[in-house]
Amino acid sequence: MTLTEGIFPDTANVSPTGHLAVGGSDLVELAGRYGTPLYVYDEATIRARARAFRTALAGYPARTTVCYAAKAYCAPWILRLAAEEGLGLDVVSSGELHTAALAGFASERISFHGNNKTEDELEMALRLRVGRVVIDNLEEIGRLADRATAAGVRQAVLLRVSPGVTAHTHTHLQTGAVDTKFGFGPDVVGAAARAVLSRPALDLRGLHAHIGSQIGELEPYAASIERVFAVAQEIARLGADIREISPGGGYAVRYRPGDPVVDGPGIAREVARMVAESSRLHGFARPPDLAIEPGRALVATSGIALYRVGSVKELPRVRTYVAVDGGMADNIRPTAYGAEYTAVLANRMQDPAEATFAIAGRYCESGDVLIREVRMPRPVAGDLVAVPVSGAYHLAMASNYNMVPRPAVVVVEQGGARLVRRRETNDDLLTSDVV
Ligand SMILES: Cc1ncc(COP(=O)(O)O)c(C=O)c1O
Repeated sequence: MTLTEGIFPDTANVSPTGHLAVGGSDLVELAGRYGTPLYVYDEATIRARARAFRTALAGYPARTTVCYAAKAYCAPWILRLAAEEGLGLDVVSSGELHTAALAGFASERISFHGNNKTEDELEMALRLRVGRVVIDNLEEIGRLADRATAAGVRQAVLLRVSPGVTAHTHTHLQTGAVDTKFGFGPDVVGAAARAVLSRPALDLRGLHAHIGSQIGELEPYAASIERVFAVAQEIARLGADIREISPGGGYAVRYRPGDPVVDGPGIAREVARMVAESSRLHGFARPPDLAIEPGRALVATSGIALYRVGSVKELPRVRTYVAVDGGMADNIRPTAYGAEYTAVLANRMQDPAEATFAIAGRYCESGDVLIREVRMPRPVAGDLVAVPVSGAYHLAMASNYNMVPRPAVVVVEQGGARLVRRRETNDDLLTSDVV
């Protein structure tokens, strides 16, 4: 079979024995060695995406930063890789910040986001000297300024603008619409800017906006950038010196062969062009520095989830359920918002597709179905199901539902495979319980 481009990692191929291989490693062999469910990441794909996004911004006429949005998947190894590739980093919690510190990520390249950062998180951000705090609400301004004053720090901040743009994506993935918990709407952003400007401990560098995820068209980005510059012009009149614009992430990826082809770096190039043009049209003497924040587009396609088939249950004239040893606890996306995936049998890549099957998870919820319909050879117990595009928002959202240990993670590169997260044990599940 041919591997659809943009769905499998760049290094994926089918071995002469009919096995799926990635990064020079046979996935059937890896599943045997490390057990299942197993998440396999291809280092070369992540590096290639990081370089493509950086190259996409190369023509922009001021400083640019590609910030990896760590919420997509946060682990020391991937943050180290992001640092090696010259990326910046977005974090949204003390846990992500702690991981970044552990990975040795340069703190001045970190932006701290979040719509309700705790006092402790603000304290930690100041202590670690993060590069930017992205302010989301009025209360945060006073809280951060008081702490920065007490610490004798002048903290660089951006204001998060809610651009009022509705993108064509699932409502749970929209963050920039009018009805959203994120950022400052048009009525309050002026007051927020005034409040920041009145606090010498805060250095208002610019504005941030994020409209949502899985956005493959240019119009929503264009509308958001236009709105951000209108706000920038308004607050420049209040005395703010707008030197940075961060129009967020949201670069779409393909999950299934039928999905439209998307070119994330191509969209980023257009975003950069639109930012430069908007800054000129709104009378800025020179374009602001630009940061973009892809999460999924940097890592999703590099990851494959491997599951072992335990049983095959045929409901005549209804559906055939292929039950695997993972499911909604390692990938909540299908259950949470109807995300759709494809799958292959990694140990039988040369067998022809015979029928349509449902891939069911092992968790005690009838909604725990990873894929409702996928064409493949008729699976039998012991087969290995591989779900591509599993690198983002799977492990990052994983739980121990039903008290099931979370999967192991392996990184493959040039024929080598290294374990970067061991499989959890039943004892791990109880480490925080006070017995
Ligand atoms: C502020 C911000 N930046 C970047 C991202 C990354 O989005 P994506 O992974 O869709 O690129 C998100 C995701 O929710 C976000 O909230």
